[in-house]
Amino acid sequence: MMAQTHWIKIFESEAALKNNVLPSKPYPLSVKGEKILLICDQTTFYAVQEKCPHNGASLANGFCIRTELTCPVHRFRFNVIDGKSISGGSYALKTYPIVIQNDGVFIGIKAKWWEA
Ligand code: FES
Repeated sequence: MMAQTHWIKIFESEAALKNNVLPSKPYPLSVKGEKILLICDQTTFYAVQEKCPHNGASLANGFCIRTELTCPVHRFRFNVIDGKSISGGSYALKTYPIVIQNDGVFIGIKAKWWEA
């Protein structure tokens, strides 16, 4: 059975999203117990896990240039579109879909197996 997705409202409007999530500045938030970073690349928004898969550092303090997020600790770099490491290795960030609608901005969180 396909895992169900919970769509959680994170902003009331696209304007609120744009006012809060600024280019090159990761925006941390916690949704259904998952720590997430929102990333803005010009007019497009992405969401990835907040914790670095290399050794657990917070990527909230990382540097982001366009869609490339660099961990502040050992400088591993990740593509926020697909979460893959650009620095080699098999590390990858979990990514989350974002949907902008008239009634708000939503993020998709996969239901845990016990919720489905
Ligand atoms: S903890 Fe992020 S690169 Fe090592």
